[in-house]
Amino acid sequence: MLKLGIIGTNWITQQFIDAANASGEWQLTTVYSRQMARAKAFAATNHAPETFDELTEFFAKGSFDAVYIASPNSLHFEQAKLALAYEKHVIVEKPVVTNPVEFAELDACLAAHPHCLLFEAARQIHEVNFKQIQAQLAKMPQIQGATLTYMKYSSRYDAVLAGETPNVFSLKFAGGALQDLGVYLAYDAVSWFGMPDTATYTPTLTRTNVDGKGVAVLRYPKFTVTLNVGKTSQSFLPSEINGLRDAIVMNNPAELAQVAYHDADGQVTTIGVQPDANPMLAEARDFAAVINDPVSHQTDYQNWRQLSRNVNQLLFNLRQSGHIYFSDAERQLPAK
Ligand SMILES: NC(=O)c1ccc[n+]([C@@H]2O[C@H](COP(=O)([O-])OP(=O)(O)OC[C@H]3O[C@@H](n4cnc5c(N)ncnc54)[C@H](OP(=O)(O)O)[C@@H]3O)[C@@H](O)[C@H]2O)c1
Repeated sequence: MLKLGIIGTNWITQQFIDAANASGEWQLTTVYSRQMARAKAFAATNHAPETFDELTEFFAKGSFDAVYIASPNSLHFEQAKLALAYEKHVIVEKPVVTNPVEFAELDACLAAHPHCLLFEAARQIHEVNFKQIQAQLAKMPQIQGATLTYMKYSSRYDAVLAGETPNVFSLKFAGGALQDLGVYLAYDAVSWFGMPDTATYTPTLTRTNVDGKGVAVLRYPKFTVTLNVGKTSQSFLPSEINGLRDAIVMNNPAELAQVAYHDADGQVTTIGVQPDANPMLAEARDFAAVINDPVSHQTDYQNWRQLSRNVNQLLFNLRQSGHIYFSDAERQLPAK
C-alpha cells in the first residue's frame, strides 16, 4: 500500500481519499491543515495517524510516499517544489501551476530528484469514456471542429455578489473560470486535436477582475474549436465534435457521463460505459500503478507530463490574449 499525505481539507480532498481507498492501492497516513483542529478532525474521519499544521514539518516528519495537493491554485507551485525537495511523489490538483515558467522550474526540480514523480490530477483523461471518444475520433473520416461548453454557476459567486473575494474568484489565488473549469476543456482539446496554431480568449470579468465566464477560440489548420466556460452562469447545452455528416455529442465535456456517436445515416450509438461513482477512481489507480512500477509505465507517465505541459501553455496563452495576469512578472512573459 502506498502511503498518502494531503494538503487541503475541502470536499475534493475527501473525494480523492475515497477514490484512493476504493482503489485498494492507497492508505491515508498524514494530514496537513493550517489549523491543527481541522487536521485532527479530518484525520479522525479518515483514520489517519499523523497530523501537522506546519508545512515543512509535514514534509520532513510525515511518513508518506506521495502528497495530494488540493490547495488554492497559486499555492500549488511552492508546495510541489517543497514536496520534491523532501523526495515525495506529488499529485497536484488541476491546474498544476499557473504559467510555463513555473512548469519549467518543476521540470528542473524533477530532474534533480529523479526518483520522484509528479502528476496533474486531470481526472477525466484517465476515464474510459475519454479514451473511447479518442478512439471514435480516429475512425471519423474528417474532423470539422468542436464546440465544448462547461458553464456551472458557482455557489461562491454568491459571495462575490455579496462583496467578498473567495479564492476561486481571486487573482491572488489564480482563480477564474478558465483556470477552474476551462482546464478540463483545454485537456479535451489538446488530447483530441493537439495544440492549436493560435488561441484567443474573450473573458467577461467579475468585480474581482477574474474571468467569470469567457469564450476561447482555438484555431487549427483545418478547423476551429470553441470553448465556452463559465462560473457565473449555468449552461444546459451539450458539447459536440463535428465531422462531416457525423458527430460525437457529450452531455458534459468534463464529466462525460453520456456520450453518443451520431453516424452519417443518423444512427445514434452510445459510446463508453457508465462512469465510476467516484470520478477520481481511475486516476487514483493510474497514479498508484506508475509509482509502483515506473519503468513499465514510463510511456504513459511521459505522455501525461507532455499533455500537462501543453495544457499549461495553452491556458497561459489564452490568459495572455485576454489580458488576465496573476502577477506583474507574468505581464513580461511572452505567449508562445
Ligand atoms: N478535480 C476536481 O474535480 C476538482 C474539484 C474541485 C477543486 N479542484 C481543485 O482543487 C484545488 C482546491 O480547490 P478548492 O475549491 O477546494 O479550494 P479552497 O476551498 O479555496 O481551498 C482548499 C484548501 O486549501 C486550504 N486553503 C484555503 N485557503 C487558503 C489560503 N489562503 N492559504 C493556504 N491554504 C488555504 C484549506 O485547507 P486548510 O484550511 O485545511 O489549510 C482549504 O480546504 C484547486 O486547485 C481546484 O482547482 C479540483
